[in-house]
Amino acid sequence: MFHLNENYLTLSESYLFSEIAHRVSAHAQAHPQQKLIRMGIGDVTRPLCPCVVSALQSAAAEQGSAATFRGYGPEQGYDFLRERIRAYYAARGVLLEADEIFVSDGAKSDLGNILDLFSRENRVLIPDPVYPVYVDTNRMEGRPIVFADATEENGFLPLPDETLEADLIYLCSPNNPTGAVYDRAQLQQWVDYANERGAVILFDAAYEAFVVDPALPRSIFELPGAETCAIEFCSFSKTAGFTGTRCGYTVVPHALVRQGVQLGRLWLRRQTTKFNGVSYLVQRGAEAALSDEGLRQIQENLSYYRANAAVITCALDTLGIRYTGGKNSPYVWLRCPDGMRSWDFFDLLLQQAGVVGTPGAGFGANGEGHFRLTAFSTREATEEAMQRLKTLLG
Ligand code: MLT
Repeated sequence: MFHLNENYLTLSESYLFSEIAHRVSAHAQAHPQQKLIRMGIGDVTRPLCPCVVSALQSAAAEQGSAATFRGYGPEQGYDFLRERIRAYYAARGVLLEADEIFVSDGAKSDLGNILDLFSRENRVLIPDPVYPVYVDTNRMEGRPIVFADATEENGFLPLPDETLEADLIYLCSPNNPTGAVYDRAQLQQWVDYANERGAVILFDAAYEAFVVDPALPRSIFELPGAETCAIEFCSFSKTAGFTGTRCGYTVVPHALVRQGVQLGRLWLRRQTTKFNGVSYLVQRGAEAALSDEGLRQIQENLSYYRANAAVITCALDTLGIRYTGGKNSPYVWLRCPDGMRSWDFFDLLLQQAGVVGTPGAGFGANGEGHFRLTAFSTREATEEAMQRLKTLLG
């Protein structure tokens, strides 16, 4: 007899950002004259930097010539890109081996796919609010989840709690959605906690490039002991504008061993079986993004988004609205005005101001009463949106 994976039936009807897109498109159809400003999903607006474009073009030309054409590449990524990523970490004092780095089409896929390595009996600890992918991918497999409360009281940075038992721990810093960032001492507590219990930390570093404060860690591997308890997921999406180009990578240290098995070996086995690698062109583009010239060019885009974040936080300061993030993060997480619920504020902002944000409740129960704005729009749109917000609430 046929059996569905009934865990899917326990999920909400649609993924958060699909639900928002659906509501926004219904609104746009009903109000075609209103110019919408999108600050909801964290999608970038700056184009790829020139040296990435030129690397993509050269790689396309190579693929068009019999002498340089390449077919299937290594599933875990070409050496030229893994070496470049290794150098990117080494510049910050994190020493990796190239074969601890696995190139993929983005952090979201790897964050879901990594679960293939872990039994369904593992207890999962996830902060609330959180990027919904962590929760949904575990629900799809029926794993028990406990939530660590991220609240205004703890600065949206929950710390280990001896009463919570966990085998898999999700951390995201700089955080999506709250923009909060763990400092070294806080992150060390998680590393020590995981090592004591034999748990594994799944560390989402997708927003590391936004950290400007040199005292804050950008990689969990900056902390001693992380190599025996953590896997790090990172992405070119927000760092280099690859949301539509697709490239990311996952770092599984050799020292990460459970039940006598290196998790990196299992991940390699999984990837070589279920994945045929990222396209050669895209990997050449990613390599260029991490060249000296590429890093200089992508910094210009990152600075542009940082200035957008300052436009947002300045408007919120003027309005007397409390928020976190926006400094070492492209996300600003604000308290909804007048105690409003987050979907109500979403509707108000959409209908009265034509501005799209993300309701905090979509990220978990503790997100209720909060709202996320992204700094990834254009400058003009960000300024216009904040003007509209001030007119609406001022
Ligand atoms: C977000 O808006 O939270 C992100 O853009 C989603 C993602 O990176 O998948």
